[in-house]
Amino acid sequence: MNALLVLLTLILVSCSNPFQGKGTLNFKTRAFKQDPIKEEDRLRVLREAEIERKRLFLVEKNKAWTKIVTDAVESFKNIESVMVKKCFDCHDKNTKTPVYGRILPRINPVYHHQQDGIKALDFSQKFPLLAQGSPSQISLLKAIKNEVMDRSMPLKAYTIVYRSRRVNDNDQESILAWVDPIIQNIEEFERKFDETQPNLNDQVHKILDQKCFRCHANGINRGSFGDMQDTPKLLRSKFVNLKNPSQSLVYKLSVEKKMPPNKRDALSDEELLLFNDWLDAQAREIP
Ligand code: HEC
Ligand code: HEC
Repeated sequence: MNALLVLLTLILVSCSNPFQGKGTLNFKTRAFKQDPIKEEDRLRVLREAEIERKRLFLVEKNKAWTKIVTDAVESFKNIESVMVKKCFDCHDKNTKTPVYGRILPRINPVYHHQQDGIKALDFSQKFPLLAQGSPSQISLLKAIKNEVMDRSMPLKAYTIVYRSRRVNDNDQESILAWVDPIIQNIEEFERKFDETQPNLNDQVHKILDQKCFRCHANGINRGSFGDMQDTPKLLRSKFVNLKNPSQSLVYKLSVEKKMPPNKRDALSDEELLLFNDWLDAQAREIP
């Protein structure tokens, strides 16, 4: 029995011998030293791929918008002569106010029609359309469509004097042939490039709520780490590093799957990417 004890002690001492070289049987150390680094690398690659995907998305979006603009400017040539004659007097900031419009501008209706017209819609750069308050292109295009269909533009006060500047059937047809495809293209563009993503704050709050709060928030303080629900406090704590967000202990422990303690409960890749993005966003907000 005694001999067995001595043997056991010898084996134990030899395993934990601090003077022994690197090839020890210390599984714990290996797991600690290697896995986390691999995990971090793997996530970094995933994250870079995600950033690249977003970049390509934006490139494609810009290209699609540029095409809409180029097409609209091109097709505008078909109606330019009509528009110059019938609309530009009041809807082009480069058209000069006629001399009689400049007399007593404060009370002169011609002056006001022109100023108000340009504020409501300005064709000076053809397309995209300009207007005070930068309303959306769709709303301006639909307004043009409505005015032309109702023949409520040009203003009656104007067409009484300039009868030939009324919108006739041909004008209506060609203006609609310009407006309608642009409306369609923009609607399609908006469907395709809809960027409304769920709010990052809410997403991360939900993750932390599910994975951490039961031990670290709302008065629960496992390992003297609590108040995670209080974002400003969490961000000021030593567990978050805003200078280098991915080095924050809260994040690192999650990546290394040490937190939550049960590995089955570990954050998924997607959740980790969101967590990292969120910390980055906080770092940008609080420099
Ligand atoms: C005599 C000046 C005059 C001419 C010519 C004129 N407009 Fe206007 N237009 C105005 C004024 C003034 C307003 C602003 C009216 C308002 O705010 O109620 C306006 C507003 C508009 C609006 C914005 C309406 C809205 O709901 O926001 C559109 C679209 C428009 N005009 C289209 C046209 C088109 C198309 C033509 C040519 C076929 C034309 N206008 C010719 C004076 C003019
Ligand atoms: C089931 C309970 C439990 C859950 C869930 C949990 N933790 Fe912990 N956490 C602990 C315990 C216990 C400790 C202290 C013991 C330790 O350090 O191993 C601790 C300690 C910590 C510490 C402090 C470490 C230090 O060095 O002081 C941080 C930071 C932390 N956890 C982050 C997290 C994060 C982030 C999550 C969610 C992704 C999380 N924890 C989920 C139980 C939990």
